[in-house]
Amino acid sequence: MPRGFFITFEGLDGSGKSTQMRLLARTLQASGREVTTTRQPGGTELGDQIRAVLLNSSTQNVAPLAEMALMFADRAQSIQAIIEPALAEGKIVLCDRFTDSTEAYQGGGRGLGSERVLALHRTVCDDLWPDLTILLLPSLDASLARARRRNGRQLAQGTDENRFEGEGRAFYERVFLKYQEIGARENLRVVTIAEDASVETIEKRIVEIVEERLTRKTSS
Ligand code: TYD
Repeated sequence: MPRGFFITFEGLDGSGKSTQMRLLARTLQASGREVTTTRQPGGTELGDQIRAVLLNSSTQNVAPLAEMALMFADRAQSIQAIIEPALAEGKIVLCDRFTDSTEAYQGGGRGLGSERVLALHRTVCDDLWPDLTILLLPSLDASLARARRRNGRQLAQGTDENRFEGEGRAFYERVFLKYQEIGARENLRVVTIAEDASVETIEKRIVEIVEERLTRKTSS
C-alpha cells in the first residue's frame, strides 16, 4: 500500500486555518479520498489533557521550555496514535498545527529560538515533516481582530481556551515574523497564502495547490 499524504495547516489564531481545513477535508472526501483530520495540541486522550492544561487561561507561570516540551509530548503521542497509522494505511492526513507552530510560538513568540525547537523535533518526532504545509498569513491586524471576536464568543459559551490569546501584540508580532521566516526557508514544503481574501477564494486556491501536489506524488 503506498504511503498516504501528510498536510498541515498553520497560521495565527484567527487566520481562518481551521475553517479552511474543514472545507478541504470535505472536498477531498467528496472526491472519494480517505481523510483523517486531527489537531495539535489535542486529538488523543493524552493530548486532550495536555491541551486543556496548556490553553486554559487559569494555567499560569508556565516556563517557556516546559510549554515547548508539553507541545512536543502531545505531538509524539499524536504521531504514534493517529498520524503514522493513517499514513501507513494510505490516507490523507490533515493536521491543524504541527511543529511550525512550536517554532513560531515558542521559538519566536517566547524567544526560545528555532534551533532548540528543531533539535527537539528531530529527537521527539523522528524528524517527520509534512509533505505540504498551508500557511495562512493574512495581515496581523486582520488575524488579531478575528481572534478577538471569537474569544468573546467562546467566553459567552463558557469555554476558555484563551491563554495564548491573552498575549499582547508584541508576542504576536514575533510569531508572525517567525512564520514569515519559516515560509521563506521551507519554500518547497510550505505554501504561504498572505492575502486576506474571502473564504471561497482561499478555499479554491488551497484545493488547486493540494490537487497539484497529489498528482505530482502519484506520477513520481
Ligand atoms: P488552536 O486550537 O490551534 O487555536 P486557533 O484555532 O486559534 O489556531 O490553538 C492552539 C493554541 O496553542 C494557539 O494559540 C497556538 C498555540 N500553540 C503553540 O503555542 N505551540 C504549538 O506547538 C501549538 C501546536 C499550538
